Amino acid sequence: MKQQLDTIQADALAAIAASADQKALDDTRVAFLGKKGTLTAAAAAMKDLPNEEKPAYGQALNVARKAVTEAIDAKLVELQEVEDKKSVDGIDLTLPPRELLEGGLHPLTLIKDRAVQILRRMGFALADGPEIETEYHCFDALNTPDDHPARNEKDTFYFDSGKLLRTHTSSVQIRTMEKATPPVRIIAPGSAYRRDEIDATHLSVFNQLEGLFVAEDVKLGDLKGTLEYFFRALFGTETEIRFRPHFFPFTEPSFEIDIKLHAKGQEPKWIEVAGCGMVDPAVFSSLAESRGDEVFDPEKVTGFAFGMGLDRLAMIQWGIKDIRLLIDNDTRFLKQFA
Ligand code: DAH
Repeated sequence: MKQQLDTIQADALAAIAASADQKALDDTRVAFLGKKGTLTAAAAAMKDLPNEEKPAYGQALNVARKAVTEAIDAKLVELQEVEDKKSVDGIDLTLPPRELLEGGLHPLTLIKDRAVQILRRMGFALADGPEIETEYHCFDALNTPDDHPARNEKDTFYFDSGKLLRTHTSSVQIRTMEKATPPVRIIAPGSAYRRDEIDATHLSVFNQLEGLFVAEDVKLGDLKGTLEYFFRALFGTETEIRFRPHFFPFTEPSFEIDIKLHAKGQEPKWIEVAGCGMVDPAVFSSLAESRGDEVFDPEKVTGFAFGMGLDRLAMIQWGIKDIRLLIDNDTRFLKQFA
C-alpha cells in the first residue's frame, strides 16, 4: 500500500512539473486531489485496511498530500512569473512615463467658493431654486410690472408653457421667503439667462450670487457694511467701493456697487460689480398674499438684498479680458488656474 502511495506521489510530481500552463496545472490538481482524484481514492481505501496498519498509512498519506499540494503551489508561482514576463515582453521599461494631466478647479468655481466662504463666515446660509422659473417668482413677486423691459421676449427665454429661464437669481429670495420665517439670511449662487448678443462681456448664460437678509430693524448701514466688508475680503483691504443710486423694482432705495479697478498700465476706473438695495415693502406685501400670513409684515421686518455677477468678479480677479474664455473649455487658458 505504501508503495502504491509513493508511485502516486511520483506520478503527481512528474505531472506537475510537466504542466505547461495554469490550465494544465489545474487539471493535474483535479486528477490527483479532486473529488475523484487518485490521491483522494487512495485515502478512501484506508477504511479497508486492518486497524494496525491504518496509522502508518494515514501518516504516509498526509506526507504525500502535503508534497503534492506544495509542488502545485510552487509551480503556480513559477507559471505566473512566466505569464507576467510575457505580458511586458516588447515593452521598453526605460521609456519615461506619459505626462500625468492634473485637473484643477475652474476659475468660476474658485471665485464662487471664495465668495461663499466669506459670506458664510458672516452668517449667510446657502439657498437654492430652479433655473426654469415661473413668471411669478422671477418678476411678479419681485414687484416687476408687466411692461418692464426685462420681461420682454427679446430679453428673456420663454418656454411655450409660459415658464422661463430665470433672468436673475433674485427669484430664490421669493422661494426662500415663501417657506422661512425671519430672520432670513441667505445667499444663492447659480446660473441666470438672458437673450444677450454674445460678445467679450456678455453671454446668454452667466453666474450670479444673490444675497438676502431680512429681520427686524435691518438698516441701510447694515447693507453697506456687509458689502464693503465682502468686497474688501475678496479683493483686498485697500479696495475702494462706491454705492451709486440706481433703480431695481424689488428694492427701494437701490444702488449699484462699483469698485475701483487699478489695471496695470491704465488709469484707475470704476467698474460695476453688483446691484443692491433695501427690500421694497411691496415684495413683503406680495408674500403675505401667497403665504396667507403676516410673518413678513413690512411694518415689522426690513431687509436688504444684493446680486452680483460671478463671471465679472472672476474677470476682475484675474484680469480676464473676454468672458467667452470662461466657457470655451480651452485647457491652454484653464491650466493656469490648476
Ligand atoms: N437681480 C439684479 C440683476 O440681475 C441684481 C440685483 C440687484 C439683485 C439688486 C438684488 C438686488 O437682490 O437687491 O441685475
